[in-house]
Amino acid sequence: MEKIGINLKNISKSFIHKVKGKVEAVNNVNLQIKPGELLTLLGPSGCGKTTTLRMIAGFEHPDKGSIYLGEEDVTELMANKRKIGFVFQNYALFPHLTIYGNVAYGLKVKGVPKAEERKAVKEVLELVGLTGYESQFPNQISGGEQQRVALARAIVIKPKVLLLDEPLSNLDAKLRVYTRGEIRRLQKSLDMTSVYVTHDQEEAMAISDRIALMNKGKIIQVGTAEELYFKPNCEFVSKFIGKINSLPAKVEEIKDGFVFLKVFDHIYQIKSSSEHIKIKEKLNIFIRPEFIELSKEEQAHKIQGTVIEKTFLGEKVEFILDVYGNQMNVTSYDPVKCQTFSPNQKLGISLLEKYIKIF
Ligand SMILES: Nc1ncnc2c1ncn2[C@@H]1O[C@H](COP(=O)(O)OP(=O)(O)OP(=O)(O)O)[C@@H](O)[C@H]1O
Ligand SMILES: [Mg+2]
Repeated sequence: MEKIGINLKNISKSFIHKVKGKVEAVNNVNLQIKPGELLTLLGPSGCGKTTTLRMIAGFEHPDKGSIYLGEEDVTELMANKRKIGFVFQNYALFPHLTIYGNVAYGLKVKGVPKAEERKAVKEVLELVGLTGYESQFPNQISGGEQQRVALARAIVIKPKVLLLDEPLSNLDAKLRVYTRGEIRRLQKSLDMTSVYVTHDQEEAMAISDRIALMNKGKIIQVGTAEELYFKPNCEFVSKFIGKINSLPAKVEEIKDGFVFLKVFDHIYQIKSSSEHIKIKEKLNIFIRPEFIELSKEEQAHKIQGTVIEKTFLGEKVEFILDVYGNQMNVTSYDPVKCQTFSPNQKLGISLLEKYIKIF
């Protein structure tokens, strides 16, 4: 099958909401999805993920901008002409049709000959592991199986692009993890350009080639999970992907692409090309819990903190500390060493300098 990319050029969409008034659901979004990749739209509730997906599918028309599937401008093309498979959040299976009827639906609409229809349904049910389910009805099978029927129904028409809107939200935690692996394997084996929507950062990290993180109708950053985790471009990204501490600091010196920051009387040297940072300025530094080390010795050259809470989780131990009136989260992957740390104890704290961020 020919692989195509998706190109969103300056698309915007606003709604008149009964309570909120005019809502800029999607605000000047530019995004390129590469042929064969799975890109996830991630972001908090109401940030515009579904609206973006529905515009790609043709269920909504953008107020501004254009949408390309491959080289073709499809902005004015009807949804049923776009060759797109769509998996809805609530599956939206037809309750009065059997599994066969549900999966065959798109083929019947297209007028595919009976023999060809039977062959295609058989193949796709085999792909999703539901051979033998043909004569069952949706209410006779489990949520996970219904989800796979929805997937089969979306891919049976051999779409050029697969769009999935929170496809796992109705499943329990364990099944979600299993099913996302299945979706990923299927997407890779069919080499299908896909856009996946979720508000769950772990799911996004596990399933995607790249993630586009959205907030308030805009795309804030696009990159691999690792890029977003290690190189967030702003505070919002650093907080949405993983956990991060923010601590007060003061700029002491700026020299040769480095900023010297005073954090609780200790000086840290951080690489930064940022031009808007000024000497003597007060700002916040950011550091993830796993890049902070705890030690027993209360040395003068270390920051001091008191353990408020300790949570033992087996392979890791999570701490909340009070550090001169600031709350700090620390995660240690050395549970043996942590056995000797307990609540109310004073500990030495080391921030791993190269992981300190400023925005
Ligand atoms: N048909 C509509 N009429 C009015 N407002 C709408 C409509 N569809 C979406 N909106 C508004 O547009 C904004 C974006 O909605 P959208 O459904 O795209 O968000 P989302 O990121 O998918 O959120 P969720 O994670 O909750 O599904 C929200 O403020 C929503 O209330
Ligand atoms: Mg949504």
